[in-house]
Amino acid sequence: LPNGLALTPPMGWNSWNKFGCNVTEQKVESVADYLVSSGLAAAGYTYVDIDDCWMAGSRDSGGRLVPDPVKFPDGISGTAAYVHAKGLKLGIYESAGTKTCAGYPGSLGHEQTDANSFASWGVDLLKYDNCNDDGTSAQQRDTTMRDALANNSSGRAILFSLCEWGVDNVWTWGAGVGNMWRTTGDINDSYGSLLSIFHANVKLAQYAGPGGWNDPDMLEVGNGGMSFTEDRSEFSLWAEMAAPLITGNDLPNSTAATASILGNRDVVAVDQDALGKQGVQISSTGGLDVLAKPLANGDVSVALFNENSAAATMSTTASAVGMPASSNGYSLDNLWSHVKTTTSGAISATVPGHGTVLFRVSTGSATSTGTTHTLVGASSG
Ligand code: DGJ
Repeated sequence: LPNGLALTPPMGWNSWNKFGCNVTEQKVESVADYLVSSGLAAAGYTYVDIDDCWMAGSRDSGGRLVPDPVKFPDGISGTAAYVHAKGLKLGIYESAGTKTCAGYPGSLGHEQTDANSFASWGVDLLKYDNCNDDGTSAQQRDTTMRDALANNSSGRAILFSLCEWGVDNVWTWGAGVGNMWRTTGDINDSYGSLLSIFHANVKLAQYAGPGGWNDPDMLEVGNGGMSFTEDRSEFSLWAEMAAPLITGNDLPNSTAATASILGNRDVVAVDQDALGKQGVQISSTGGLDVLAKPLANGDVSVALFNENSAAATMSTTASAVGMPASSNGYSLDNLWSHVKTTTSGAISATVPGHGTVLFRVSTGSATSTGTTHTLVGASSG
């Protein structure tokens, strides 16, 4: 959506994957505190997003949405003020239907009233769900809210995150309506879910770019259902696919291992690269996927993802991933181990089962690159 927002994939946190309907102002504010104190905010995680269940059960006498006074004693405006004072942005949730998925008042038929409320409260992002529709198309209902957001009475810029679960081939119209669009049904905290979402989302690279991104759903990193290797695969693949990096764990209580994944700035830099290209599968044989993502400075990020449970040696070449010929050879920067090697063209690694090796490939020798490897947020809990 050409509204000047999401020129790189949005990054932040959302309450749903871990907390479901138990979202509160206190939790949201403690996430904001942690984002700043851990260094994750400085690494790019700036949106703190409230999902479903923030509302009271009905609208007020003026037809306006009302925050649940117990969960949000200072309202959404008070929560937004707290988050803004930390230098962060606040996201909220609604549905293009008569009710949200959890049964709270929906925005269908109230779009301008609700867009005006969100803007007046200081909301910076709207995640717009697809439950309880009236039989009209998601595109039509989402477009009505797009226009209401654009015309909000405060003139506030609001990032528009479409959550229509990939219906009606949203990728073919999403870029005209929203800044990101869900390409699949809901993720869950399992390797099987990661795999099926990856397979669907990786095919849609041509539709993504600055201002409009394929959204393979929020991260499950740190939620406990996957191994460390699988969590790291999820983060690697989402970055390689230029996906929004919206964490979905109990962030302030992240383990050091989880923090080391979310805080890997070299991997975040792949996701946030200014060229805005989603990586593509250049080969996929027997569950061994090679992905290449061209980067703004001419480097290429290469992901070697082993879908199978046994370790495998995976190989590709600099030319196969799109690097130009180079008489000095290439440098391979392993973005997880931080080991740098040189090669005349072969790119190869032993990849653990369900694991992903992520390289940044550049021309010239390994010693000539100036990449730094700053890990942030490496502790707490
Ligand atoms: C369905 C969405 O896909 C989820 O991400 C979440 O927002 C729930 N609805 C909330 O009810």
